[in-house]
Amino acid sequence: MPTDATLHSAQSPTTLPPSPFPTDDPILSQIGNTPMLPYPGVADGRLLCKMESENPTRSMKDRIAMGILSEALADGAYDTVVEASSGNTAGAVALVANRLGASCILTCPEGTSPDKIGYMKAFGAEVHTCPDVDSDHPDHYRAVAERLAEEHDAFLVNQYYNQSNPGVHYRWTGREIWAQAGAEMTHLVSAMGTGGLLSGSARRVKEAAEAAGRNVTVVGVDAEHSNISTAFRGDEPVPYNTRVEGLGKGGELPTMWFDYIDEMRDVSDEQAFEQARAAAQEHGMPIGPSAGAALSVGLEISAAHPDARVVTIICDGGEQYFDTLF
Ligand SMILES: Cc1ncc(COP(=O)(O)O)c(C=O)c1O
Repeated sequence: MPTDATLHSAQSPTTLPPSPFPTDDPILSQIGNTPMLPYPGVADGRLLCKMESENPTRSMKDRIAMGILSEALADGAYDTVVEASSGNTAGAVALVANRLGASCILTCPEGTSPDKIGYMKAFGAEVHTCPDVDSDHPDHYRAVAERLAEEHDAFLVNQYYNQSNPGVHYRWTGREIWAQAGAEMTHLVSAMGTGGLLSGSARRVKEAAEAAGRNVTVVGVDAEHSNISTAFRGDEPVPYNTRVEGLGKGGELPTMWFDYIDEMRDVSDEQAFEQARAAAQEHGMPIGPSAGAALSVGLEISAAHPDARVVTIICDGGEQYFDTLF
């Protein structure tokens, strides 16, 4: 059972280690250092939420944009950055590029909502909408991003392959999680897309736990019709299909460090959306559906293991999903 002192330190941002990407910029310095809150639906702080929704663009992707771009742009070799993304990474890259004084070009598939494109443009990014074609087609938005990066001698963020994606979470997010909850945490739970968030955080937490003579069980969350968990278990792939943004993928990626993940659980789209709705309606926590998926697994673990102290990462806030959530 956590003591009052532990709960206090779990919530206090002042106990966190400094950012590995220090900055004087008033906007960029707001990235990271996110609070960890006891989920109001579970007594005694047994389920803690790492609130990545408190980052400036409301997701943990601000951290990888900050880490990757501040290092890539440091020596002046690039003045333009390019990324293929229709999701949180697009907004995060657009914001960080804006503050670091770089031009930003983003590609996204047809069908990306006008709100999201507007968000990218709000930070000054140039946005190219590409046809919705197979990933091996030259007009696919990732192929277009690669071409644009070459044409502009620009830096390509490449979150699906760049080892700095999990690397930033190893150096930053995982360290914060351990500082906030390491004293008592037994489980770490997060949704996976590129896998960067959980892989890097898990590696850091597991190393710290081992040094303390303990173990933390790491649980990755995949969509039901998705192939992160089938790849993890060595099962046959299933047809990929989920409405939960950011969650799940068609298969294993180099940014997924399975060595640091103990278990994968699959969550249906309905369960993910239902849990995100419940967090907002019952507990005043507006979160995105992928965070809803992770939270539902965190709740399952808490219910099954009354002595567990579970940390669930809340990848993003619910603001951008109100039209589909409610
Ligand atoms: C809303 C949301 N949830 C979860 C994820 C998964 O995070 P990661 O790509 O680090 O595995 C993403 C990634 O795009 C996301 O945007």
